[in-house]
Amino acid sequence: MKISNVAVIGAGMMGKMIGFVLAAHYPVGICDVKYVDVSAEIREDTRELSEQGIFTKEEIEDRIARIQFTTDMRSSCISDADLVVEAVFEDMELKQRTFAQLEKICGESCIFCTNSSVMSPSEISIDLEHRERFVGTHFWNPAHLIPLVEVIKSDATCEETAQTVMDMLESVGKKPVLCKKDVPGFIANRLQHALWREAFYMVENGIADAKTVDDACKYGPGLRWPAMGPMENSDLVGIDLTYNIHKYLLGTLADNHEPSYLLQDMLSRGEVGMKSGKGWQRWTPEQAAVSKANLRSYLVDRFDRTDNNKNDM
Ligand SMILES: NC(=O)c1ccc[n+]([C@@H]2O[C@H](COP(=O)([O-])OP(=O)(O)OC[C@H]3O[C@@H](n4cnc5c(N)ncnc54)[C@H](O)[C@@H]3O)[C@@H](O)[C@H]2O)c1
Repeated sequence: MKISNVAVIGAGMMGKMIGFVLAAHYPVGICDVKYVDVSAEIREDTRELSEQGIFTKEEIEDRIARIQFTTDMRSSCISDADLVVEAVFEDMELKQRTFAQLEKICGESCIFCTNSSVMSPSEISIDLEHRERFVGTHFWNPAHLIPLVEVIKSDATCEETAQTVMDMLESVGKKPVLCKKDVPGFIANRLQHALWREAFYMVENGIADAKTVDDACKYGPGLRWPAMGPMENSDLVGIDLTYNIHKYLLGTLADNHEPSYLLQDMLSRGEVGMKSGKGWQRWTPEQAAVSKANLRSYLVDRFDRTDNNKNDM
């Protein structure tokens, strides 16, 4: 199916930057219930990219010029879309209501995508008339800097919808991966939280403190991950060695089905991480700012223009 116009519902942290990504290749309508100065916010969020010479200012302005903002969902920049990405608040009832509205406004073949981080696309689309054209598209934050987008099939998504969305995402320089079943956490958060469960377990059991666990990731296997995923790595060391290691090790790994009691303890003391000044470690506002800036600058440094298509409308 040919996609010519796209739309985004919700112009918050994710929606406006998803709009920026899609504007590499398509005219984009963005709708929010409140007025958002999307152009100014995108300029601010992409400042490092132009300062580092990754995009010229003109290229960023080109994209911004392709984005039309509206507070009226019936506006033609939404109703004429061939594909809509929803990025409203993470609220099941709101998402279901938004898609019920869209189903009345958009054409019958328009593809519907939800950017929900955790909610089931099968459940969000449960009451829609055309469930086959609905799919999850989980962009990671910041949406313009992280290439991965998980495309999640619901229990009713048809092949053509999933393939069209994968192709569309590739055309704007994203790295889409297909999650063939609607499971909690999709693919990447299942991997991430399997690791976090083990990390918390080691702290809980006095095997290592929190900083040591972080260092063991940052200076060791974490360095490999951008170049070699776990499946490739298992092939590298050999299936025979992988089998033997798992026979010896798996029985000793964390397998709790409830959150670590340390999380509950910290919660009861109001220690909720950077925003309260203490979580697994103490955080001054300056340290928190440095940590966030380091991540951002790492992502900007890794931003590969060959992976992120040039403006090509
Ligand atoms: N923030 C993240 O790190 C992140 C990462 C991946 C996915 N997500 C998911 O993306 C979605 C949006 O998250 P966010 O962080 O951008 O939220 P946000 O709070 O920054 O933005 C949500 C926007 O939706 C708008 N909105 C609410 N109801 C609306 C409606 N009926 N019609 C149009 N607009 C409406 C709000 O006014 C707001 O501007 C959520 O489902 C979230 O789980 C968030």
